[in-house]
Amino acid sequence: MVELLPVTLAALLAGLTFVYLLLKHFAKNGCPSNLPRGNMGWPICGETISFLKSHRSNSLGTFLEEHCSRYGKVFKSHLFAVPTIVSCDHDLNIFVLQNEGKLFPVNYPKPMHHILGKFSLLLISGDLHKKLRNTIVSFISASKSDQLLHCIEKLTLSTLESWKDCKEVSFYKQAKRFSLSVMLKHLLNIDSEEPLASKILEEFETYIKGFVSLPIRIPGTTCYKAIKARERLQSIIKELLAERQKGNAKPAEGADCLNVILSKQNLSDEERVSVVMDLLFGGYETTAKLMSLIVYFLSQAPKALETLKEEHQAIRKGKEDGKPLNLEDYKQMEFTNSVIYEAMRLGNVVKFLHRIALEDVKFKDITIPSGWQVLPVLSSSHFDPTLHENPQEFNPWRWNDNATSKKVLPFGGGPRLCPGSDIAKVEISFFLHHLVLNYRWKTKPDDYPLAFPYVEFTRGLQLEIAPS
Ligand code: HEM
Repeated sequence: MVELLPVTLAALLAGLTFVYLLLKHFAKNGCPSNLPRGNMGWPICGETISFLKSHRSNSLGTFLEEHCSRYGKVFKSHLFAVPTIVSCDHDLNIFVLQNEGKLFPVNYPKPMHHILGKFSLLLISGDLHKKLRNTIVSFISASKSDQLLHCIEKLTLSTLESWKDCKEVSFYKQAKRFSLSVMLKHLLNIDSEEPLASKILEEFETYIKGFVSLPIRIPGTTCYKAIKARERLQSIIKELLAERQKGNAKPAEGADCLNVILSKQNLSDEERVSVVMDLLFGGYETTAKLMSLIVYFLSQAPKALETLKEEHQAIRKGKEDGKPLNLEDYKQMEFTNSVIYEAMRLGNVVKFLHRIALEDVKFKDITIPSGWQVLPVLSSSHFDPTLHENPQEFNPWRWNDNATSKKVLPFGGGPRLCPGSDIAKVEISFFLHHLVLNYRWKTKPDDYPLAFPYVEFTRGLQLEIAPS
């Protein structure tokens, strides 16, 4: 009997804790009366599992469709272990993003902090955010040089050259290698053939997997491996920066953008390393995902592909053979730009963002309670039939209407608007130029983009290719 006492006490304690969590979870005390409708789901995990359930990335997904039709475009839920307001309302999303810092600061879930590192731009706010963001913006402004354009074109040509004896390529993998190589060369002067480039790519793959893993930090888990990979990447970058500072590094061709980061006296070494990590991380997967989405949608839109090809043939005709692409050529790639935006609208590289309400905020007839997580769902306006005619159709011509750009937020908005959008667009435009002029491709029927919640392809986007 005495031996059973600890077990009975433990069971009683567990029961009481469960009842407490249940009451806390459903408690209305302190909540404003005009909370949006919704469902708080199970204690602790709430509705997170259904919210994260994968679906085709060119759709809103069953969870959001059902919740929006049952509760309206703004609803309450319990996601990532906290009470949450989910917004599928374009006006509210703009309001939230514009009021970053004042009412709705950034608020990525705690498990992501260990993976991103404490100085990541996605985690910091206030003056520190301004300081590191300014460094990134100066780097990107210094990047608008012929040096970057040549680097992109050279890497495009070497990627396409490597396909010449292939009948099939794993496109997403190739796009990742390409976009990381562009950043490595441009930022750190590392050539794609160097063993260090392969090492960094491998470490990045491990690092990125951590973002969709369970937050268990014990040796062997995906999360633990991701944290270790980030630490190794940081040491590699730290060493490269130190060599550059000592003047031991190999000389960079043309204008040296890394010096922009090194010349900032007000940054610590740790902050400099973090800025480089942010640029590599921000510029790598997102760009590769978008390239893959474009190639996927074009394979099903022959008229758009033909128009794109005509645009690039016209640019080629106006140039001497073998002359590299330049900024003037880029400015002529107007239809290409529409293709890029249409693929972002329909494919949704970034589905939602994380914010928190600092105080009770009234919006139309609802109140967002202080301390609640707020998730602006960027993909929601992309499929809204009141904003876009036939939203499920891949139609780059809809971008001829200037109003279309006001109805999407693929690069976010407000003070955290993506600083790398121009680099991503020029990279993709130059790659598409040579791709459409040199290759035809076919996708497989069972290989399509999934929101997981980040875009993944069911089979890695295997392309059957042939010279055109
Ligand atoms: C298709 C390509 C890309 C897409 C769709 C994209 C999307 C986004 C979005 C939605 C945000 C806002 C995050 C938030 O508000 O919480 C963001 C931020 C950011 N992006 Fe991009 N991005 C792309 C490419 C790039 C590239 C090429 C770079 C770097 C060269 C980059 C660097 C960053 C950085 C550093 C931030 C953080 C900004 C801040 O917090 O102030 N991105 N991106």
